[in-house]
Order: sequence, then C-alpha cells, then structure tokens
Amino acid sequence: MTINGFSKLSKQQKIKWLAENFSSDPAAMEQVFSEWQHPDPAAQKIIDGFTENAVANYVLPYSIAPNFLINGKTYAVPMVIEESSVVAAASSAAKFWLDRGGFHAEVVGTVKLGQVHFRWGGQAEKLKSLFPELRTWLLSACGDLTANMRQRGGGIRDIELIDFTAIEPFYFQLRASFETCDSMGANFINSVLERFADALENFFTEYPNLPDAERDAEVVMAILSNFTPECLVRAWVETPISSFEELAHSQGMDAAQLADRFALAVRIAEIDPYRATTHNKGIFNGIDAVVLATGNDFRAIEACGHTYASRDGQYRSLSRCTVANGIFRFELEVPLAVGTVGGLTALHPLAKHSLEILGKPSASELMCIIAAVGLAQNFAAVRSLITTGIQQGHMKMHLTNILNHLGASAEEAAAAQHFFQHQTVSFSAVRTFLEGQKKTMALL
Ligand code: MEV
Repeated sequence: MTINGFSKLSKQQKIKWLAENFSSDPAAMEQVFSEWQHPDPAAQKIIDGFTENAVANYVLPYSIAPNFLINGKTYAVPMVIEESSVVAAASSAAKFWLDRGGFHAEVVGTVKLGQVHFRWGGQAEKLKSLFPELRTWLLSACGDLTANMRQRGGGIRDIELIDFTAIEPFYFQLRASFETCDSMGANFINSVLERFADALENFFTEYPNLPDAERDAEVVMAILSNFTPECLVRAWVETPISSFEELAHSQGMDAAQLADRFALAVRIAEIDPYRATTHNKGIFNGIDAVVLATGNDFRAIEACGHTYASRDGQYRSLSRCTVANGIFRFELEVPLAVGTVGGLTALHPLAKHSLEILGKPSASELMCIIAAVGLAQNFAAVRSLITTGIQQGHMKMHLTNILNHLGASAEEAAAAQHFFQHQTVSFSAVRTFLEGQKKTMALL
C-alpha cells in the first residue's frame, strides 16, 4: 500500500487512511488513534511538532525511583520505561545504598566531537604544512556561530587533521572537539561543522599559487560523532563486605562468598561478549529511562556506550567490581553526552518537570545522576542473578500485565496478587487461577 502526499493530509485524514487500509476493524482503530491525543490542543501541538506525520501519542509509564543518594544529595529520579521490574529494581538498589554512603560520581570530561570527512588531491605532508593556516581560517569562519557558546564558557576546543590516505586514497578528516556547557549541543556542533565544510572548500580555492590538483577539496560529509569517549562520567559504590551479611545469610552464603560471587559475575561480563551485552543492557535499562525522562537522545547514548564498551577491540562490561581488604567496590564508567538546556529538555512538558524534580541540574550533575542510576540498575540485576534469579522479581511485576491482559476484575487481581506471593507466576498459571476464581464465584 503506497500513498502520495501523506504528510499533507490532516491528522484525522491520516488516521482514516490507516484505519481503512490496515485494520480489520477500521472504526475501532480510528477510535483508538483519535483517543490517544492530549486533551489540551496546545500541548498536542507541541508534541505533534516533534516529528513528521504524528498521528497519536504512544504512551509509556513515567515513574519515580526515590531515595537516590548521589554525592551526598538525595534525588527522586524520573524514569520512563515499559519493562516491568526496572523501576522497582532501581528503587531497591537506591534504598540498599542509602544506608551505605550512597552513590559517588565524578565527571571525567565533557568534550564532544565532530568530523568533516573530505578528499584532497595533494600530498599529506603539504596539507599538514598548510594546516595551521587552515585551522585559523576555519575558526575565524565560525566566529558568529560560536559567540554565544563562547560567552557561556564553551565553543570549539581544538581541530585536528587526520590523514587516512594510507587506507583510502585522498581521504582526510578534520576532527574537532567542542565544549557545549549545559546543552547536548548537537545542533551547535553540526552547524559549526557545516560552516567548516564550506570554509574548507573556500580555503583551497582562494589559497594563492596552488596547482590545480590541490585547488579542490571535496567534502563528503560533516557531522558530529556520537562516540564521545571524553564526555565521560564515573560512578561507584563502596562498602565493607560485612554489609552483605543479611542478604548473604538469606541465601545460605556468608558475606564474603556473596561479594566474591558478585565480582565473578562482573568479571564474566568482562570476559565474554555474550554476557557483556546482557550485562550492559541492564545498565542501559536505567540509563535510557532517565535519558528519556529528561528529553535527551537515548539512541546517541546507547550507540556511544556500546562503542565505548568495545574500545579495546572486544565488547566488555561497562562496570567493574573489586573485593579487596574486606571492601566491596562497584564502579561504572560510561560516556554520557546529555544536556539540561535546549532540545526537547524545555519543550517536552514532562522533560521540563523531570529536570525540576532533579533540582534543575547542570549537564555534569545530570551525567552523575544517570551514571548512578545505571550502576544501581546493574547492581540490582547482578544481585538478583547471583541469588534468587531475576524471574522472581520480574514475574511478580509482570503479574499486573498478565492480569490486565486477561481482563481480571479488581477483586480477582487482588486475590491473584495474594495467591502469587508464594507461587511461580506464568501466563497459564494466572489464567488457571482466574478460571478457578470464576468457578468459585459461580458456586457462591
Ligand atoms: C533485563 O532487562 C536485564 C538483565 O538481563 C540484565 C542482566 O542480566 O544483568 C536482568
């Protein structure tokens, strides 16, 4: 099914077209899409403005994980995620660490990067000798674009020339580094890079006495890099292993055994990429949820994090754990290019309030919060994995989804919640339980 001019249709016409062409029950589909709209037209207009062809709002739960003690300050952390047990796990880890000094976090760096990829027909040595002049030329071409950012203490930090001609004939790269203060800075960086691209071409056309082969620089593309290994934050927790006594005893272990098993589980994720991927996915359960809640770009954060996890050539765990001299230390190092001004942060009504709930943090403070939540999530997952397994907690949370799916009434749901406190939850077990309830009710 194709259509011309879809974007020109009104929203109602778009919904109608979808319902008529793709649904076995067009009226039902039309009704659902028409209902999933914000009741306030002004708010809906803002949401529709985010993308092309918006026809409805796709809703995810907005949750709060309270009691996060990070660098001595307590936060209630907004999280947007659909997976049943993530917020419960984050909250439980936050509570565990609240009595043990909380999370510590420090920003290692805030440098962001962008590239101009180009071909140039001369010798690399010649380009290297021209580069100091080219660099000055590029910087002066961007004075107007960078003025505001410079006033805020940011701007272009450096431009490097990288010679790739040994791998790809004539291919060079300008790699520029930026400080974008509290903004994520994607638009700023991309505008500067596109200006660099024009200025680069002009430099060679206008440079005196160049042979013809050196007059044309062909820009292939100019775009920021989402790999920002120097926009890095480190979060950690630390406690004497005796802290684990209660948990360990409930699992028939002693505290040292539990801490050792935890450290081994993390080492396994350093050794084996199959485990590392799942381990890091658990970290991103927490990270993405806060990134989304604060109106930041979770795809950029994910892409960067996974590249960082492979920086030595093998995909590995982003977190590390040590147990030495009776002290358990668990640490996460992750690049997080986020902003607290600009982009969706002020435009999305809930993102704005997320930042308010977090106390209007700077971008650096938000990096610390997000890293701490990622670490908390990882702690909760590994703690479950090495003790009870994750299904117990996960299926308990998932029970609500199953009950909703099976259309359980409030009374049936309450009875099921009670019954499954000590039973294994599965779809068929819940269905059988509900059928039993209905039979019992019929007999009464
Ligand atoms: C599930 O979304 C995340 C976990 O699989 C993470 C992990 O295995 O560490 C529980």
